[in-house]
Amino acid sequence: MKHEQLSFPEALRHLAKRYNFELEETQATEEEKQLKDERESLFAVMNFAKQYYRDQMLETDLGRNIALSYFKSRGYTDQTIEKFGLGFAPEGFHNLLNELKAKQFDIELAKKTGLIGEKNDNLYDFFRDRVMFTIQNHTGKVVAFAGRTLRSDKKIAKYVNSAESEIYSKSRVLYGLHFAKQAISKQDQCFLVEGYTDVISLHQAGVENVVATSGTSLTTDQVKLLKRYTQNLTLLFDGDAAGLKAALRGVDLILPHDVNVKVVALPTEHDPDSFMTEKGHSGFLEYVAANEKDFILFKLNTVLEGKKNDPVKRAEAAKSVIESIALVPDGIKRSFYAHECADLLGIDEQLLHLEINKARRAEQKRQNQISARDARVQNRYEAQQVVAPLQTDQEKLLKDKTYYVEKEIVRVLLEYGHELLDAEMTVADYILFELDEQAFETPQFERIVHLYRLAEQQDKQITIEQLTKQAEEPVVQAVIEATSHPHDLSENWLEKHEIRVDGDRNEKIKEDVLFTIASFKLHCAQVLIDDKNEQLKESGDEEEQMGLLQEIMNLRDIIKQNSDQLRRNYYLH
Ligand code: CTP
Ligand code: MN
Repeated sequence: MKHEQLSFPEALRHLAKRYNFELEETQATEEEKQLKDERESLFAVMNFAKQYYRDQMLETDLGRNIALSYFKSRGYTDQTIEKFGLGFAPEGFHNLLNELKAKQFDIELAKKTGLIGEKNDNLYDFFRDRVMFTIQNHTGKVVAFAGRTLRSDKKIAKYVNSAESEIYSKSRVLYGLHFAKQAISKQDQCFLVEGYTDVISLHQAGVENVVATSGTSLTTDQVKLLKRYTQNLTLLFDGDAAGLKAALRGVDLILPHDVNVKVVALPTEHDPDSFMTEKGHSGFLEYVAANEKDFILFKLNTVLEGKKNDPVKRAEAAKSVIESIALVPDGIKRSFYAHECADLLGIDEQLLHLEINKARRAEQKRQNQISARDARVQNRYEAQQVVAPLQTDQEKLLKDKTYYVEKEIVRVLLEYGHELLDAEMTVADYILFELDEQAFETPQFERIVHLYRLAEQQDKQITIEQLTKQAEEPVVQAVIEATSHPHDLSENWLEKHEIRVDGDRNEKIKEDVLFTIASFKLHCAQVLIDDKNEQLKESGDEEEQMGLLQEIMNLRDIIKQNSDQLRRNYYLH
């Protein structure tokens, strides 16, 4: 159990397998058995795919010329390439598919792994024209893949990742953990990086206690997983402003889990991969030793930077640090931080304690509110866990007004979400407020709005870049769709809406947002009116009819208000 970091039953199974014992698990019900059988079959498909991608890389000219030479150019040895299960998915829609068929794999299972997709009754390979990374869970099972494009076309997502499945839950897997866990335990410390290539490079250079979040923020489940091996996490992040901001944001999510977080800012222009490649093992570790800082003290110094003489800014800095300290569950650690920070901030330590406790109470209250609302949102979200890719039949969809007005809302969210509409409110706040809890019909757009709602609750911001990095493929496509083809539609009101006189950027954004929301509301009201009219025709009950008529009148009112808004927008130009 200690050696492999397994639970007792896991350890038994592990040993039984190793020594070829038939292990009788008497408690398993028939249902559990079937589930287990299915999982085993899914793993079999994954293992086959891993082998297939590997062979494509090593045993075809194309694979050697494209994929193998790429990995070699990044300095990976044959051993590393083999160990991390790197490979190549060639161009074309039916390569893996045909191979699976030839080997008589159940294609339904292959679909469940996400390796094979289906669109309008046509099956296709999910990963195409990409170099491949194998994603294993902490026990070493192949649960997913990531494919990196080697093309520089900005419209192509750099990485695509397997969708979630019965065997893959993104929030519960850390890339590299299987290879890292012994080193993490032994050194009682773990490096956290963002990228697949960061893990591989550090590993190859002999720093094996490293895992990656695959470009997302760490989740609660991932922290719990890591805490089996160590409480000491060291975040390596890119030294540029974006990396810094990401690190500062991400850590407040880790602090409540009672782990010790250190951060190391790498020199600008470097990610852990490039830094390791340049400095080598000892250069890397020397840099880390010289530059690692306790997260909270690091945050304090960062937010205080250049504000030493400005009391208002200092107060703001103090507040954000107090919020972080308040998240630390251990009272002794909190008090240590209070002591350190009081000095740095020049604030009385007692006062700081009071403020920290106040922040803890406020956070508690906020959490309670969030869980209530989360439960509501989550229900709807779960109903839509399975998001189909955008239909290819785009023509038809584009003519569909519902699809279109929803897309427009998503467009303004993505384009201007973080901009301020007035002193207090961002565009995203405003749109979410106006949408209230209205659901969208297009699942991808609903998902994007949902992500904005979650971000709002956590006081975070969402960027297009983040979404394209972190969201699942259909959502990434929806993002591209919403942001890149504003001229596809030539409906009259849209053209007018696109033609704008030059003016104050803020004013233009405001108009765009108001216009888009008005269009959306107008459309929804129209749909509802049609609906009520249908009901009216069907209804035989006088009282119900009166009610319906009243509702229709109210909806007409909404239409009128919003058309006024639209008209104002037109005539402004
Ligand atoms: N990522 C992703 N989808 C994207 C972009 C990034 O899932 N479209 C995730 C990947 O896990 C990636 C990590 O975010 O490894 C970091 O992204 P990035 O720094 O852009 O990539 P690198 O790992 O540095 O890859 P490379 O060195 O090949 O550029
Ligand atoms: Mn990189």
